[in-house]
Amino acid sequence: MISYDNIEVTFGDHVAIPDLNLTIEEGEFFTLLGPSGCGKTTALRTLAGFIEPSRGEIYIDGKPATNLPSEKRRVGMVFQNYALFPSMSVGENIAFGLAVKKTKKDETKRLVAEIADQVELTADQLEKNVSELSGGQQQRVAIARALVLKPRILLLDEPLSNLDAKLRVQLREQLKNLQSDLGITTVYVTHDQEEALTMSDRIAVFNKGVVEQVGTPADIYDRSATPFVCTFIGAINTLSDDTLRRLSSGGGSTLDPDGPAYVRLEKVLLRRPAASEGYIHLDGIVEKRSYHGAYSTYVIDSHGSKLRAMVTENGGSPLVEGSAAELYIDPASILQY
Ligand SMILES: Nc1ncnc2c1ncn2[C@@H]1O[C@H](COP(=O)(O)OP(=O)(O)O)[C@@H](O)[C@H]1O
Ligand SMILES: [Mg+2]
Repeated sequence: MISYDNIEVTFGDHVAIPDLNLTIEEGEFFTLLGPSGCGKTTALRTLAGFIEPSRGEIYIDGKPATNLPSEKRRVGMVFQNYALFPSMSVGENIAFGLAVKKTKKDETKRLVAEIADQVELTADQLEKNVSELSGGQQQRVAIARALVLKPRILLLDEPLSNLDAKLRVQLREQLKNLQSDLGITTVYVTHDQEEALTMSDRIAVFNKGVVEQVGTPADIYDRSATPFVCTFIGAINTLSDDTLRRLSSGGGSTLDPDGPAYVRLEKVLLRRPAASEGYIHLDGIVEKRSYHGAYSTYVIDSHGSKLRAMVTENGGSPLVEGSAAELYIDPASILQY
């Protein structure tokens, strides 16, 4: 178990993290999510022991670790830019930490082979120079280099951000599988909400050094705790005062007619749902349709207010621009603060 207990981190007179309190459970895949500059890397490096907090205590395994040097914390760290040694072979890179610890040759060989197998690097690839490998393979070398030392905690700082979109999705899955096979407590930093939602057991959403919400992916997405979380975590409609008034008089009596209020794009339905009881009905005109293959997004003009809807059409006939649209919204899906 890891805890941040009233952690403050300052750089000169800039307070990067004012008062961080978080608990990460054993074996958990825990993600620090937020926009660039919100303090994710700072929080991670403080846990790793590379940054000394100006106040508070870090606990690892329930014991105070704030004064432990980094090498005594048994953390493995992986960076966005891999930080591999370019003149060494893949195998030498993975073995680097073992060499520092003066591990015996045959033991090193065995450990490197074992971890290479786990991250799906072949014996052939171990002999190559790192520069001969693709970005995705290099990142797997960096992960192997961290894991070969059998850390208690794996720390990953935007490890997939330098890869192209398709590879990123593949590696996401591999990394998640590896983590659950090993059961290693993992703290993962990303600014990518989809990455956080697909990989994490729990997520902490950061805004300007402050955690706005901690929860499961479903908590964060469906039950966003603050306007910042709900607008950061995915596409969403901000309802105009007029739309909100029409929704609250049209059946959403539990809604507060004074905003702000938000509804996710896929919660705005363009066909009457099979069980439509409780849904509020609005009318409008299709202003624009954008085709995305797996789904389409629509902009609907409803009495002068724009609402966006995301629809999987499954071969059904799409609504044409300029035609009338019927909107159905479950008031329970509207987020209000
Ligand atoms: N070594 C440093 N010196 C001064 N300011 C820093 C340093 N590292 C980070 N910061 C500042 O602290 C804030 C948080 O940075 P960082 O943790 O890198 O954010 P993130 O990883 O979320 O993008 C930013 O305002 C950044 O400019
Ligand atoms: Mg960062």
